[in-house]
Amino acid sequence: MKTIEILEREHEWIGWMDECLEALVASAQAEDLLPEAAYELLSLYESFADGRHQDKEEGVLFPELLAAASDQDCEVLRKLLSDHGAERRHMVAMRGNVLGAVHGQSANVQGFVREASAYLSLHRGHMLRESEILLPMVARLLMPGADERAAEGFAAVEGGPGDPHGLREQILTLHRRAGLPRPPAA
Ligand SMILES: [Fe+2]
Ligand SMILES: [Fe+2]
Repeated sequence: MKTIEILEREHEWIGWMDECLEALVASAQAEDLLPEAAYELLSLYESFADGRHQDKEEGVLFPELLAAASDQDCEVLRKLLSDHGAERRHMVAMRGNVLGAVHGQSANVQGFVREASAYLSLHRGHMLRESEILLPMVARLLMPGADERAAEGFAAVEGGPGDPHGLREQILTLHRRAGLPRPPAA
C-alpha cells in the first residue's frame, strides 16, 4: 500500500533523527554546551518530523481512517493526536532553550537536555504505537481508492514531488556528524 510505504520510510528516517538527538543530548550533558548541529536538527524536526509528517497523518490519513474506524480504533487515533500535541509542546520548549543557549546560558543547555530527553521518550513510544497499531489499522481499514487518495494528499502536503533523496541525505549527514555509525538500512 502506498501510504504504508511512505509512512514506513519516513518513520525510518525519523528514527535516525532520534538517534542524532540522543547523541546531541549526551554531548550537551557531557560538555555543558549545545552542539552546533542542534540548530539544524531542531529545524528539521519542526519542518519534517513534527511538521509535514504529522500533517500527513493528521490532515490526510486519520480523516480517511475515521470513516471506517471502530470506537477502539478512534481511541487509538485520539491517543496518537494527543502524542503529537505533547511532542509539539516539547519542541517549542526545546526551541526556547536553544535560543537561550546561543548566549551561553548553562541553564538553557540543561533545559534543552531535559526537554529533548522527555521528547525522545514520548516519541519512541509514539513510533512504536504507530508501527505496531496504526500501520496494521491502515492495512485493515484503507480501501485501495482511499489509499490512492491519501497518497495524493501526502504529495499535496509536500507541495509537489519534494526532494526525498535530499532530505534523506541531510538526515544521514547529521547522523554521521553526530559520530554515529551508518544505519544498516541506509
Ligand atoms: Fe508517524
Ligand atoms: Fe505520528
